[in-house]
Amino acid sequence: METVSSVSLAGGQGKTTLSLFVARMLAERGNTVLVIDADPQSSLTTFLGHQVEPDSPTLLEVLKKQVNAEDGIYKTRYENLFLIPSDDALDTVQDYLAGSGTGAFTLKRRLSPVTELFDYCIVDAPPQRSQICLSVIGASKALMLPVEASVKGLQSLIRTLELINELQEDQEAFDGTLLGVIPFRDRWVGLRRTTESDSNIESMRQITQEWFNKDFVLPSIRESEKFKQAINRGKTLYEMGQGELAYPIEVLVEKIAKLGDTL
Ligand SMILES: Nc1ncnc2c1ncn2[C@@H]1O[C@H](COP(=O)(O)OP(=O)(O)OP(=O)(O)O)[C@@H](O)[C@H]1O
Ligand SMILES: [Mg+2]
Repeated sequence: METVSSVSLAGGQGKTTLSLFVARMLAERGNTVLVIDADPQSSLTTFLGHQVEPDSPTLLEVLKKQVNAEDGIYKTRYENLFLIPSDDALDTVQDYLAGSGTGAFTLKRRLSPVTELFDYCIVDAPPQRSQICLSVIGASKALMLPVEASVKGLQSLIRTLELINELQEDQEAFDGTLLGVIPFRDRWVGLRRTTESDSNIESMRQITQEWFNKDFVLPSIRESEKFKQAINRGKTLYEMGQGELAYPIEVLVEKIAKLGDTL
C-alpha cells in the first residue's frame, strides 16, 4: 500500500477536493483504495456519503488503538473505495498523540496491519499544524500540496514546506517524496489566465525553485463550479461531461502509479 496525503497548513486550499478526485480516479482504474479522513471537519467523510453512527469506530478509535485498523474501515458507495471516517470528536486525539511517545509515527503503525489489503491509501490532512497533521505526514510515502492561487495560499505553502522540512531533517519522520504543488482555483477568463492567478502561480514556481532548485508546480485545478457540482452529486468529472478539467488529477494519478516503481 502506497500512502499519499493531501497537505496544506491553511483552510480552503483544495486538500479535500484533491483527495476525493484522486482517490476516485485510482479506484475507477481498478485499484483498491483506502481513504482516510484525518480532518475533524470530516468533509471527506460526508463527500463519500458516509454517516458516522454513534458508537461505530472512526479514525479516533483507530489512532487510540481502541480498535484494530480493520474495524475502522467501511465500504463506500463506490467500487474499490473504502474509508476510515472521522467526525468532530477526532479533535480529542491531539493530547493522546502528543503523549503517545511514538509522535509522528502513530498513524503509520496503526495502518501497518492493513497494508496488504489496499493498493493505495489517500489521506486528507487537517489544515492546522496539529499532532494529527504530523502523524499524517509521518505515515506518507508521498505528499500532494494543493495551494490556492492567492496570497493566503502562498503564505500557507511556505509554512507547509517549513513543516515538511522539519519532519525530514529534525525528526526524521518523513523520508518520502513530494509529488508537487497543485495550484487550486486557478482563474481564467476566456482563453486567458487572470493576472492575479498568473502572478500567484509564478510565485509558487519561485518558492519551489528556492526550496528544491526546480519547478515543482504541477498542472492547476481551474476555478470552476463544476468541481463543486461533481462533489455535491457524488459524480466524477467525466460523468459530469467535464473530462478536460480532470487533467491535473490524471497527472497526479500517473505520478502516484509510478511510486511503486522506485521501490
Ligand atoms: N475547482 C474549484 N473551483 C472553485 N471552488 C472549488 C473548486 N473545487 C472545490 N472548490 C470549493 O473550494 C472550497 C475549498 O476546497 P476544499 O474543501 O477542498 O479545501 P480544503 O483545503 O480541504 O479546506 P479545509 O482546510 O477547510 O478542509 C470548497 O468549498 C470546495 O467546494
Ligand atoms: Mg478539507
